[in-house]
Amino acid sequence: MCLFQLPEDVLYLILSYLDSKSLCRLSQVCRKLYHFTSRDSVWRKIAKDLINTGITRQGGDLYPHILLKDRVRTSQNWSQGSCRKETLLKWKPNLLPWLQLDRDVLYLSQAADIGAYHLSAERGRFQHRRFALFSGHQEDVCRFVLTDTHLISAGGDGKIIIHHRRDDISMEFYGHNQEVNCIDCKGGLIVSGSRDRTARIWTLSPNRVGECLHTIPLFDRVWSIAISPTISTFVTGTACCVNSTPLRIWDTERCQLVSCLGADFRRGAGVLDIIYESPFQLLTCGYDTYIRYWDLRVCSRKCVMEWEEPHDSALYCIQTDGNHLIASGSSYYGVVRLWDKRQTRGLQMFQLTSSTSSPVYCLRLNASHLYAALASALYSLDFTAPGPRARR
Ligand SMILES: *[C@@H]1O[C@H](CO)[C@@H](O)[C@H](O)[C@H]1NC(C)=O
Ligand SMILES: *[C@@H]1O[C@H](CO)[C@@H](O)[C@H](O)[C@H]1NC(C)=O
Repeated sequence: MCLFQLPEDVLYLILSYLDSKSLCRLSQVCRKLYHFTSRDSVWRKIAKDLINTGITRQGGDLYPHILLKDRVRTSQNWSQGSCRKETLLKWKPNLLPWLQLDRDVLYLSQAADIGAYHLSAERGRFQHRRFALFSGHQEDVCRFVLTDTHLISAGGDGKIIIHHRRDDISMEFYGHNQEVNCIDCKGGLIVSGSRDRTARIWTLSPNRVGECLHTIPLFDRVWSIAISPTISTFVTGTACCVNSTPLRIWDTERCQLVSCLGADFRRGAGVLDIIYESPFQLLTCGYDTYIRYWDLRVCSRKCVMEWEEPHDSALYCIQTDGNHLIASGSSYYGVVRLWDKRQTRGLQMFQLTSSTSSPVYCLRLNASHLYAALASALYSLDFTAPGPRARR
């Protein structure tokens, strides 16, 4: 029986059991096979096992508009650290920038403003001119988040500003008595954390903007905060200057403490970044040089996995691909490290600058690029670019 007499879905199923080498060979046999072996469904199983292909552990696809076959090829470049480094922007004096990425638009905070930049691939070059500006803070922006409709920023001036992304409307209010170090927003709920040692909950609904729903005294400066994907809880990361764990989970409705994560943090092990990968899995990093992976279904006293930054430098930020890859930004020489969760040692390391005290304040990535914001420049690593490779 000829292969092509099979019903298409059976053919796809058979092909999905092949490894990538066999698929590549098959694709060279004839046009028809090339067509069949190019389909995403054939590559899913392979892609799920590799880093940063966009296939998440739950089986979702982050980049359905790009052929999975191509993403599998680019994934090799991530594993091998094969990429081109580019300096997209430089500025003076030193700042504490923050980033958000929304498809082909990059949002970057510089001092009191946030600019939006096109990362259009067609022209092949980064456009240095920002096409939108979000302002209103009297002091530097500490962090900001995006929703489909809004950009919400937290500033050193204690303000929280809610900007509409597509028009010029914005609403602002004083959120805290001191600088607002961190903010998150999901499902119409805003949580903020501050140097004033409180976390607060707000709503995005227009007629109640600026009305604080809850204030939680944490007795410790709050540096990072994240709302769980289910919105029923959120987690706070604090400076760890008091005798309690710096990671605590709260109920969003009643603001009661749900659990404390970890037990043996040393004093000063402040948490600088937190991300949820699923409603019960999260990653944290901070001053004690560790990345920790927590699974709330298993146990909250101990993390399920941890990775230590080998250069004894604090970790300022982390990102993941929702599956095996973690990217971390450390406090010296602009070191960005890639980790495969299945390995204890780092996978790749990139030193973005030669100046010593040069933290990577924020990282963002998609299937082809990694963006890193340092004190005086914005860098990109392009894992699809041919030519000179980044110095490692
Ligand atoms: C990642 O961003 C670049 C822009 O810098 C864009 O050209 C590319 O298509 C994006 N990739 C994905 C997978 O979204
Ligand atoms: C991988 O990197 C090489 C150069 O380092 C580049 O030529 C190639 O296009 C990249 N492959 C993919 C699929 O992005």
